Amino acid sequence: MKYSPYSKEIMKYFKHPKNVGIIKNADGVGRVGNIQCGDIMELYIKVKENKIANIKFQTFGCVVALAVSSMLTEIAKGKKLNEAIKISNNDILKKSGPVPPIKIHCSILAADALHEAIYDYLLKSKRSIPEVLKKEHERIQNTLKQVEKTHKEFTNFEEKILKK
Ligand code: FES
Repeated sequence: MKYSPYSKEIMKYFKHPKNVGIIKNADGVGRVGNIQCGDIMELYIKVKENKIANIKFQTFGCVVALAVSSMLTEIAKGKKLNEAIKISNNDILKKSGPVPPIKIHCSILAADALHEAIYDYLLKSKRSIPEVLKKEHERIQNTLKQVEKTHKEFTNFEEKILKK
């Protein structure tokens, strides 16, 4: 394709994404949804000695969502948990290069998924959860509920049409 609205880096990761898949027996799982488009992403982490030893993701999202999720896994791998909590959308955008404004929300999904996976790990391992991560978790879960509600409404609507 001659014209692409995406940076070379985004196209590179879209065509050859790294760390796609599921980690069985993951220590933490982050499940997030995108309020604007209804897409969903899951991210799995394995933690060793307080560091992210392994990380994988699956996404039902667009070109940007797939590429930035893959970039995020590379940024986060090997980081200490307290460093990984600080990874933001801006860190991902530094690596991805410019993203069309209408697609910025897709890149937020990846950082949210990581924060949720860390939250899940801390909760399961009964460790204290930083206040900032608790607030982040509430915001993300509220968004996910809305996405799932919209998905359900859409699915019901489709089923009705197919029955006609
Ligand atoms: S349009 Fe849904 S994640 Fe990008």
